[in-house]
Amino acid sequence: MRGKTFAQIIALFAITVSTLFTCAQTPPAVLTIHADQPVSAVSPTLYGLMTEEINFSYDGGLYAELVRNRTFQSDWTGVPYWYLYEGGSAVAKMQPDDQTGPSEALKSSLKLEVEQADMKNQAGVLNVGYWGVPLHPDTTYKGSFYAKADSADIGPVTASLVSDETGKVLATATISGVTTSWKHHAFTLKTDSIQASATNHLLLSVGHAGTLWLNLVSLFPPTYHDRVNGNRIDLMEKMAAMHPAFLRFPGGNYLEGDHISERFDWKKTIGPLVDRPTHLGPWRYQSSDGLGLLEFLGWCEDLKMQPVLAVYAGFSLMQDLVKPGHDLEPYVQDALDEIEYVTGGTDTKWGAIRAQNGHPEPFKLTYVEIGNEDTFDRAHTYEDRYAQFYKAIKAKYPDLQLIATMPLKNMKPDVQDDHYYVRAKQSFKEAAHYDKADRNGPKIFIGEWATREGAPTPNFNSALGDAAWMTGMERNSDLIVMAAYAPLLVNVSPGGMQWESDLIGYNAMNSYGSPSYYAQVMFATYLGDHTLASKLEGAGPKLFYSITGNATKKKLYLKVVNASSIPQSLEINLPGAKLAATAKLVSMTAPGTQSTNSIDDPRRIVPIESTLSGVSSKFQHKLPGYAIQVIELNQQ
Ligand code: AHR
Repeated sequence: MRGKTFAQIIALFAITVSTLFTCAQTPPAVLTIHADQPVSAVSPTLYGLMTEEINFSYDGGLYAELVRNRTFQSDWTGVPYWYLYEGGSAVAKMQPDDQTGPSEALKSSLKLEVEQADMKNQAGVLNVGYWGVPLHPDTTYKGSFYAKADSADIGPVTASLVSDETGKVLATATISGVTTSWKHHAFTLKTDSIQASATNHLLLSVGHAGTLWLNLVSLFPPTYHDRVNGNRIDLMEKMAAMHPAFLRFPGGNYLEGDHISERFDWKKTIGPLVDRPTHLGPWRYQSSDGLGLLEFLGWCEDLKMQPVLAVYAGFSLMQDLVKPGHDLEPYVQDALDEIEYVTGGTDTKWGAIRAQNGHPEPFKLTYVEIGNEDTFDRAHTYEDRYAQFYKAIKAKYPDLQLIATMPLKNMKPDVQDDHYYVRAKQSFKEAAHYDKADRNGPKIFIGEWATREGAPTPNFNSALGDAAWMTGMERNSDLIVMAAYAPLLVNVSPGGMQWESDLIGYNAMNSYGSPSYYAQVMFATYLGDHTLASKLEGAGPKLFYSITGNATKKKLYLKVVNASSIPQSLEINLPGAKLAATAKLVSMTAPGTQSTNSIDDPRRIVPIESTLSGVSSKFQHKLPGYAIQVIELNQQ
């Protein structure tokens, strides 16, 4: 400062402050949108859902069954999630019995040998559910089981819902008619004005000495659309809010299994539950297969989604392989049967079986995916396996679009499934990935994608990455026909998660959407049907946008993502456009990248709706730091 006058020092100080201030604001960026210049169509099926049995997505998740291990699978510890109950002076023992079961599929059972019991001192078995049995006041629960006894003298079975904390019986029913042969028994349990809680268990007990065998013990709360064997209401509602156009099922790794015998063998997942043997999934827990092929289709029907059916293509994760050619033929036939089950009339073999299973109406099917992530096949047989499936399926169903799970050299598939699991920084970069992609190649299905920061569910940095990435997908949705975030669901109870960063979290009682979930809701709700010519100037590398329109609704949807902590001024020019002076603003912001929602704080970060005024063909808009926004502009 030596040699400077006081005035010079003040001037220097002023320049420094103003420089700092300008840096903290960043100069205004200019976005020019030509509302009268459509560029390309936006795929109406762009946003959908990808699903598989992972993170207790179905059992202990979407599939509303409350009884865990209802078919009494056993291991060295005994029969997990089932415990012996000896009330008062009752004496009994329980053990798995592989000598008797209610069906060909369920050949074993749980054997309860009661040495001593009376009606006041009952003996039985209890189930602790999936991290508890959630109960609500004034609610009816539908239960059932298969049972047989060594003699009818065993008397009635009592089914009770019991509070873990107080020991109080919250609902009870008596089921008589157990005989010496296997029979199905149904009951209902109704709660009264109890306190909602998950710290409860289900107890089945008897009041006489004797032997009782049990299997397929089931208990359902009310389900979405009251479907029998249906889905959990809160999770279905959360998915409905995402306006999904399709459901990709049954996986993912879950389609393939670790071994061929552990694949999603669809024929073993249809029909009465007692005819479903259950199977071990690749995420290393037993799947009840209660959510089987027809239940996936019912889920599609309930949320008005089209099915994207993935068929097993002869490769399992531990490198089990079915060689293309003769060996693969039965698997190709299995896929043809599966497609017939989904789409065939009741005059076809598998269409008639679907009708017998309760759904005479065929389902509309456009896309079939051949396998999953076959790039992991170290023998490199996918080109040939895909070609064999392609030939057989196209011969019978020429209109089906067949998705390949990796890029092919020898032929052009109808659609190619690309997967992305990345950090936020890469999502920002990849937002431009498809801008220059070959338009003469296959259409693209981004069958799995996610920005993976945050566990069990993604944090706001992930949501920013996702939103940036979605702007790129929308801009390129002439090429990208469909896209789905994965994984969709996670049970956040201890031990429930196998894969970090999942869109929707839940425990037995409650569920919540991550910031990434809300970003999806925002983008899918305001999709538009075509993109518009536009240009962004003067923006930094962390500003992303997408502009689409819907001519019939006379709406323009501007999505802007500011992934920087610094607010961003935006001059928005729409030369020649006639716009209403007010627009809808949907805005989601967070104080930092690590901010998130959780089961205990489910709505910390949610989109907020407000009205934007002063809208014209040239207006100023200021984006906060860390912001995802949709502006719905009304054309006049
Ligand atoms: O989404 C989790 C897994 O990631 C899927 O099962 C698999 O397809 C991918 O590798």
